[in-house]
Amino acid sequence: MSIIDTIKNAISSGVSSVGSSGDSVLGIDIGTSTIKVVQLKKHKGQAILETYGEIALGPYIDTEIGRVTRLQPQDLANALIDLMKEANVTAKDVGISIPFASSLTSVVEFPDVGDSKLKQMIPLEARKYIPVPINEVMLDWVIIPKDPIEQEWRRSQGEEGKTNNDKVEVLLVAIHNEVLNNYQTIVSTANLNVGFYELEIFSTIRSSLGHGIAPVMIVDIGASATKVYIVERGIVRISHLINIGSQEMTLALTRAFNWNFEHSERMKREHGIRDGYSGEDIDTHKKITDILLSTLGRIFAEVNRVLLMYEKKYGKDVSRVVLSGGGANLPGMSALVKKEVPVEVELADPFSKIVAPAFLDQVLDEVGPEFAVAIGAALRKLKM
Ligand SMILES: Nc1ncnc2c1ncn2[C@@H]1O[C@H](COP(=O)(O)OP(=O)(O)OP(=O)(O)O)[C@@H](O)[C@H]1O
Ligand SMILES: [Mg+2]
Repeated sequence: MSIIDTIKNAISSGVSSVGSSGDSVLGIDIGTSTIKVVQLKKHKGQAILETYGEIALGPYIDTEIGRVTRLQPQDLANALIDLMKEANVTAKDVGISIPFASSLTSVVEFPDVGDSKLKQMIPLEARKYIPVPINEVMLDWVIIPKDPIEQEWRRSQGEEGKTNNDKVEVLLVAIHNEVLNNYQTIVSTANLNVGFYELEIFSTIRSSLGHGIAPVMIVDIGASATKVYIVERGIVRISHLINIGSQEMTLALTRAFNWNFEHSERMKREHGIRDGYSGEDIDTHKKITDILLSTLGRIFAEVNRVLLMYEKKYGKDVSRVVLSGGGANLPGMSALVKKEVPVEVELADPFSKIVAPAFLDQVLDEVGPEFAVAIGAALRKLKM
């Protein structure tokens, strides 16, 4: 199967399909601060967790755990090999998620000339929206089906002719060949068989959202950046990258307290922004909280801007926000987000889609948001 076919499947399959496979599969998420892997096996129609693990990338360039890194494919392959050894990974068949930041993703309006004409038109027109030569990227797209409720709302706004009835929205995704080549170096060095590459957005949707039709916002707080997606009927309607991630909170602590990175990272995870701290040094706790809140305030101002933009453009309210990524694990995060955004908030719980031993329940709950991408990739490889 060619890579372009597999990316297309990723986009259009969206949430789930039923298939069969008796063998173990591995989902891989190569983030900027850690690699995450999840090995699953299908048994009696259920996805069974066989093993999972993560490894920090900082030490591979002689820097601290938690640091954002830009590693060469060979170093990433070495880290992946170490992680697979540590986690006793046995699967060779893998699905890999590609970071949103390595893609060019946009929703573009086309004249509604019918599906077959659109299929000819999109690859030709797409070059206008992609800032690199089209022969340097793998291009894919999906036509976003029209929503009768939205049409009705537009009619009521008197916008019918202007924006919609004669227009159709298309999600365009382009991935640079060089990015794919780097991934191919990693998997061949690690001696793995790659079944597909898919954008991390689609992995997260599969692992962290149900089948509802109401618009949902996913906020993935990674180390380097925060990614915001609005998903409607399983389809990505808006995607946005905020160039502030969880590492920025650690760096803010290093500056404010003159602590080193390692200590700041530990203090961030221990203190977080929760209320009701009863430890000894209440003033330090308060100062840490204030500093973390100031970074989070910048992130959520932009999250709210995306929410408003969506609601204004499509006349629909986002029903809830799902938080994923390691940064979502900051103590007190959900409570804060409930105050910051005007809709329901929950932490992603991707392990709930798979069967795991009961004694792991608590720890899987805690690490869940961080594994949303790797689990989503593994579920697709399992055809769940
Ligand atoms: N319990 C915790 N409390 C606060 N922050 C945490 C916690 N656990 C992890 N993090 C933070 O989450 C970040 C790592 O999250 P994640 O693994 O999702 O990032 P990544 O995928 O490597 O980054 P990116 O998606 O930006 O490439 C780090 O900045 C780390 O400090
Ligand atoms: Mg990530």
